[in-house]
Amino acid sequence: PQSSVTLPAVPFPPRAPFPATRLRRVRAHDWTRRLTRENSLSASDLIWPLFVFDGSGSQPVASLPGVSRLGIREAVAAARRAVDLGIPAIALFPATDPSRKSDDAREAFNPDNLVCRVTREIKDAVGDAVGVILDVALDPYSSHGQDGLVRDGRVINDETIDVLCQQSVVQADAGCDVIAPSDMMDGRIGRIRSALDAAGHGDTQIMSYAAKYASAFYGPFRDAVGSASNLGAADKKTYQQSPSQSDEAIHEVALDLSEGADSVMVKPGMPYLDIVARVKQTFGVPTFAYQVSGEYAMLQAAGDAGYLDRDAVMMESLLAFKRAGADGILTYFAEAAAERLP
Ligand code: PBG
Repeated sequence: PQSSVTLPAVPFPPRAPFPATRLRRVRAHDWTRRLTRENSLSASDLIWPLFVFDGSGSQPVASLPGVSRLGIREAVAAARRAVDLGIPAIALFPATDPSRKSDDAREAFNPDNLVCRVTREIKDAVGDAVGVILDVALDPYSSHGQDGLVRDGRVINDETIDVLCQQSVVQADAGCDVIAPSDMMDGRIGRIRSALDAAGHGDTQIMSYAAKYASAFYGPFRDAVGSASNLGAADKKTYQQSPSQSDEAIHEVALDLSEGADSVMVKPGMPYLDIVARVKQTFGVPTFAYQVSGEYAMLQAAGDAGYLDRDAVMMESLLAFKRAGADGILTYFAEAAAERLP
């Protein structure tokens, strides 16, 4: 959580010139650095993403060193671990068995699909002690790997929303606390809000992936959920934003808020901190950032190779999100960071 409120711009306060002013004075000792700290990080700032598969044990993900897909029992154990570490929320992503993928992605709204079953088990085990966030998009379930339905080679917007609404309702029925649409269809937040309300889920939050870019940093995630081979050489540029865009992200956020989003997400994270800062300053709503799989993989692999101090760059990168204005960070470092935070 971030309490800072953006104040109206004021002229930069005048200071006496050197040598009267020496900025190094307040940096000179640990106590004064702590006392003058503008931003800090705690376990309450973290959202922990978990990959789940329909089985038991754990399966390491080669392109995400240190991260494994978890069986159902192991996912419940991770939820308990989140409670112990003070991590407020987890985000579940299913690695769907290929036999359950189809062109129409109908497994997405099967009330007994993997994420729904895991969510029920986790909620039975930990109740309200940890929030469960579920993605809404079709890519874990579609044989083509796209987030929406495809007709004549195009991802079709409005028909996709019907499916996303059904997916949202079964996920809320399973007990998830937050619906997180990451599909980037136009107009889906308002339709999902209405569908949730009509199904008696007026208290279920919507965390919109409002500013989601068509990024090459998602590669390891697609390996983890097994959608990389479905997508093949195709891309998501007709619905995810171009990395060249900044104003467009503000329009995306404005529309999603007008349709009822409770909070918004910027994704990826580190290369997009300018967007995080702009969104927070413009709207002042709960704003989250996703330090995505490729960002994690870079830092972790450099740490494993001895090129960087993993713990130090992990903490520095997470604090940078707070400084940019994020209220929280969705990160594969959540467990390791929480273990090292007060
Ligand atoms: C799916 C989704 C993606 C990620 C989260 N949800 C991949 C994509 O859009 O292709 C990526 C997250 C990561 O890289 O860690 N809609």
